[in-house]
Amino acid sequence: MTPDLFEQGSERLATHQARAMNNVGSGDRSAGYGRVHEPGSLDLTHGRILYLEDVHVSFDGFKAINGLSFDIAPGELRCIIGPNGAGKTTMMDIITGKTKPDSGQVFFGSTIDLLRHNEPEIAQLGIGRKFQKPTVFEQLSVFENLELALKTNKGVAASMCFKLNGTQRDRLSEVLHTIHLADSVTRQAGNLSHGQKQWLEIGMLLMQDPKLLLLDEPVAGMTDYETERTAELFLTLKGKHSLMVVEHDISFIHTISDIVTVLCDGSVLAQGTLAQVQADERVIEVYLGR
Ligand SMILES: Nc1ncnc2c1ncn2[C@@H]1O[C@H](COP(=O)(O)OP(=O)(O)OP(=O)(O)O)[C@@H](O)[C@H]1O
Ligand SMILES: [Mg+2]
Repeated sequence: MTPDLFEQGSERLATHQARAMNNVGSGDRSAGYGRVHEPGSLDLTHGRILYLEDVHVSFDGFKAINGLSFDIAPGELRCIIGPNGAGKTTMMDIITGKTKPDSGQVFFGSTIDLLRHNEPEIAQLGIGRKFQKPTVFEQLSVFENLELALKTNKGVAASMCFKLNGTQRDRLSEVLHTIHLADSVTRQAGNLSHGQKQWLEIGMLLMQDPKLLLLDEPVAGMTDYETERTAELFLTLKGKHSLMVVEHDISFIHTISDIVTVLCDGSVLAQGTLAQVQADERVIEVYLGR
């Protein structure tokens, strides 16, 4: 990281500390910035939880990601928009270790170089990813799905003997309420609506208490009611977790967004409040239309 970027980081930290003290904007309450870094914990001393610099990926000569640079502050809910093929999903593939970039830097906190880790390690580090299609276990109940989320990465024998302890029970109960499924604990997941399945999958991620959640088109296919509840859900999560939400539904983005990043042709075209990017001629040209 260059001295310039360190300096910018310190400025960002100061801004976020001020915000935290005033308890306004994104990243309030329990976000981790402002704390002195403790060895072994995620280093947020430069005021960013995720940092990408000049990332490039080509598929058979096609530049899907082309000089992508941006960062996200701890506790922030960042919205990403952009036309089909802009590279939004590919960017998530890079952050989660599914795709290795040709060049560039991708850091989690100030010290964890994500390009040195594989997919399971990145999940273990605290980055949870939600794909567009819900992937819950249809034959199991809501409770069992959430319980199962705690067993992942344990051996077969450990999983068979697995019993929830008190803290985990409390966590499960808290998550059930957060995802609006407290009344459906015993329901078979296969019988839930599309939106409820999406919430359940988010709940499964939350059971592992991720520091950063990546959500790719989370409200696609949801009813208006489900979309509204999902907006509420994300607003409850921000601050406690950092979120990156990719969505084409602009009214949903309007409800949840602080800062919006517009991706186009594999790099950042514009960034700002939704009103700012909506007024940007380049964004209107390539995405929002006239
Ligand atoms: N594994 C791959 N092999 C070849 N091309 C790929 C691969 N993955 C992505 N691409 C291409 O890279 C570009 C970016 O794709 P990506 O899926 O990241 O776009 P996106 O912004 O998520 O679009 P959408 O809004 O439609 O989901 C597209 O042109 C896509 O066809
Ligand atoms: Mg996509």
